[in-house]
Amino acid sequence: MRTQVGILGAGPAGLLLSHLLHLEGIDSVVLESRSRQEIEATIRAGVLEQGTVDLLKATGVGERMEREGFLHNGIYLRFGGRSHRIDFPSLTGGRAIMVYAQHEVIKDLVAARVAAGGRIVFEVKDAAVYDLDTREPKIRFHHDGTLSELACDFIAGCDGFHGITRPSIPSRMRSEFTRLYPFGWFGILVEAPASTDELIYAHHERGFALVSTRSPQIQRLYLQCDPNDDVKNWPDSRIWEELHARLETTEGWRLAEGRIFQKGIIAMRSFVVEPMRYGRLFLAGDAAHIVPPTGAKGLNLAAADVRVLSQALAAFYARGDEQALKDYSATALRRVWRAEHFSSWMTSMLHRFHDETTFHHRLQLAELEYVVTSRAKAVTLAENYVGLPLA
Ligand code: FAD
Ligand code: DHB
Repeated sequence: MRTQVGILGAGPAGLLLSHLLHLEGIDSVVLESRSRQEIEATIRAGVLEQGTVDLLKATGVGERMEREGFLHNGIYLRFGGRSHRIDFPSLTGGRAIMVYAQHEVIKDLVAARVAAGGRIVFEVKDAAVYDLDTREPKIRFHHDGTLSELACDFIAGCDGFHGITRPSIPSRMRSEFTRLYPFGWFGILVEAPASTDELIYAHHERGFALVSTRSPQIQRLYLQCDPNDDVKNWPDSRIWEELHARLETTEGWRLAEGRIFQKGIIAMRSFVVEPMRYGRLFLAGDAAHIVPPTGAKGLNLAAADVRVLSQALAAFYARGDEQALKDYSATALRRVWRAEHFSSWMTSMLHRFHDETTFHHRLQLAELEYVVTSRAKAVTLAENYVGLPLA
């Protein structure tokens, strides 16, 4: 098999890259270790930045998102028993966010690739990359019991944090930057009416909580937990008790309960590898960087990476111009580090750290108070949350 760009991983990064390359007339093959059913059913992120929304719309894969997604013009920061609204359009010159689940984006992208005759090979095993520093890098993999080789001009490593492409870069050729957080998020999906019109990020002595949504009938809620905890230790009654306590207000707000039909624990880390390229291998999305979910940036960064990468590859194929490919890592990393800072800031401001003193707790409250009373500080939050303009 041969293709121009071999893409490992059919997450948001790999699928969107394949779609954008197709629009530029560039051929790609996507290799994915899981099944189509599995990738279309994995529950992950839910917030799309304005730039991601615009990109999906402009490239013809935003139709269902526009119909079924929810445009949100703000979020609430809740602390000290009160809610404070951050209004995005007035702080960012009219920008906003869309609540539309990651697996719905995946479904739309897979459907678009299939309709255009794109090649996605699901359930590949033992993928490995070779000859990365030559003009013809290769991916070898097993599929349906046979060993295949895909020869490429370029390989895109879109195989997520636990993928094989990043570790295939010789360790002396990469630097890694990591921060682990001493907590995780317990996430649930609930059959219940919405309790709020916009997302609530709550700071509380017992820990962080977040109220998000998926539809008028299904709500997505998170609460800070021990990253090594087990969902078995969390019967529904304990989850509701904790959520009620952390989200309680003096304003009479009520959290609607319902049937919990999905539970999971997410670890939190910040991670970046530099550079995001080795020879003809380009890393994009979680393969190159991870953010804690508090700023809702993971999926959006993946989309921003592949936008830059697809444009660089288009310049190469159209004019033989390699400059944008040479600049890819530095261009992508500028946005990555901005998002790393924002996500780390939101995480530190809103979570309870186990070793924190009462002094630290008071500082968090002082910072939150500043965010909701200073326009300058509110703009900082809002412009990062809706996403800074794409490079
Ligand atoms: P991924 O979505 O991880 O896709 C990588 C793909 O590569 C996967 O389909 C995988 O099966 C495939 N793959 C891996 N290894 C191989 C291999 N060897 N061969 C072939 N295929 C391979 N972000 C938020 O902003 N908010 C959230 O609430 C949030 N929740 C999350 C919950 C979980 C459990 C996780 C893991 C992440 C969450 N994120 C969240 C982050 C967000 O989902 C990611 O940033 C986003 O999925 C990145 O997209 P990606 O395409 O780079 O990687
Ligand atoms: C969701 C996830 C996030 O990480 C976040 O910051 C906001 C919302 C969600 O899954 O809806």
